[in-house]
Amino acid sequence: MSTTSAPVHKLYIETVGCQMNVLDSEMVVADLRRRGYELTDNTRDADTILFNTCSVRQHAEDKIYSALGRLRLAKQKHPEKIIGVMGCMAQKDQGLIFQRAPYVDLIVGPGQLHQVPDLIERARAGARQQSALSLGRKDGRVDEIRRSHESFDPLRDPSMRPTPFQAYLRIQIGCDKFCTYCIVPMTRGPEQGRPPEVLVEEARILAGQGTKEITLLGQTVNSYRFKDSAGTVTDMADLLHLLHEVEGIERIKFVTNYPKDMTFKLLETVRDLPKVSTYLHVPAQSGSNEVLKRMKRGYTVEDYLAMMERIEATLGDKATVSSDFIVGFCGETEEEFRQTVELVKRCRFKNSFIFKYSERPGTKAAELLPDDVPEEVKKRWNNELLAVQNAISEEDNQRFLGQTVEVLVEGPSKKADSDAVSEGGPLQLVGRTLDDRIVVFDGNPRLVGNTIRIGIYEVSAFTLIGTPVTQHVGPDLISLDSAR
Ligand code: 5AD
Ligand code: SF4
Repeated sequence: MSTTSAPVHKLYIETVGCQMNVLDSEMVVADLRRRGYELTDNTRDADTILFNTCSVRQHAEDKIYSALGRLRLAKQKHPEKIIGVMGCMAQKDQGLIFQRAPYVDLIVGPGQLHQVPDLIERARAGARQQSALSLGRKDGRVDEIRRSHESFDPLRDPSMRPTPFQAYLRIQIGCDKFCTYCIVPMTRGPEQGRPPEVLVEEARILAGQGTKEITLLGQTVNSYRFKDSAGTVTDMADLLHLLHEVEGIERIKFVTNYPKDMTFKLLETVRDLPKVSTYLHVPAQSGSNEVLKRMKRGYTVEDYLAMMERIEATLGDKATVSSDFIVGFCGETEEEFRQTVELVKRCRFKNSFIFKYSERPGTKAAELLPDDVPEEVKKRWNNELLAVQNAISEEDNQRFLGQTVEVLVEGPSKKADSDAVSEGGPLQLVGRTLDDRIVVFDGNPRLVGNTIRIGIYEVSAFTLIGTPVTQHVGPDLISLDSAR
């Protein structure tokens, strides 16, 4: 007797770029799994190979084009293997991808990911070089452009998440800020808040799947705004109140913020809602008013400092602020760079992500401003700013020595000894505090997913190192062997 079952397809998916992409890949995988796909971690075994791409810097694109180049021979030998390029680079480069890698079967923009399964099916049936892309920013009426960038978020796949109890929740799509260096408004389309009731429902579903921590995602997440048909407006603070009520969710984080929208109302909400993280990632990008003007960031250094004062006045030292900086932007002088160094010293960020300016075709800067800072200067500034920031991070972390912090245990650290896992012994675990500090400690793998207290005995610029504690006896911290 023979039984027939649907063929199992093997999917290899590689994701680069931001958290939005990680979430998009989770959705696509959820959709494909439902149709019988299984994941594989290598392209050799895969019959379907997908790249979820990023366009923010040239380097991210180069990586994908090289990966595609490496598949040229494989596709010649196995023409039945389906190769797809999704995400921001697909939306930005469009047909150029087919020119550079004609054996790619599909390109799908970030607003069209729901089409991936059908496009794969059609490719299997023989269709070549298919594309599903959203409208460009000038290719139609605003509502048409918006609709063409809708995301498909109800599908979730817990196994694709960084950990089973942490999940991303997209609250906003796109961006309307049009900073002159940035490609995102072109690839992800107009800014749109998702309806609050949909977000609460999605948070409930996530909680039902065991999610304890949700990270709300948006390009300028604190500009979140949704106006319903009756004209009622929900802003970021209102949304946090709604999500705070969802049972099972213990922590709520949100990234990335826009300085001008960091209002007192929002900061007071962060202060008053215990589940809400006090980690605020608010990119400054530069410490020079002239550079900020060329970037069209829409604020001055003084505005940024006023925001820091609002944070200090509302949250005091409970808040941790981190930033992004671009060094070597068009026309940037040594003096302008020094002003950025000054801003970092003045704000004492928990950490900063520092990037060398990378010209992006399609942006205002690429069109109007020469990319004239030499690569060696960009590199030198990058290293110098990083060194200044790291020294600050290390100095500021000293205050944790001898303190106890509460962490959500995320899993084994990168350095963890895998033998210890199989033997059930203690291993190096990593957790995070509510204000996003990374804490490593030795402990029992069963602690993963729990919130526990850690006594800190060593610190570096990026990490606090400690040991689990369960109770205080006098001034000393007692570490329990049973917890380890
Ligand atoms: N070049 C370098 N860095 C960039 N970023 C955005 N666009 C560019 C670019 N063209 C940085 C910004 C942003 C982060 C996500 O990437 O600092 O905050
Ligand atoms: Fe890009 Fe500026 Fe929008 Fe951030 S706010 S996504 S940097 S355009």
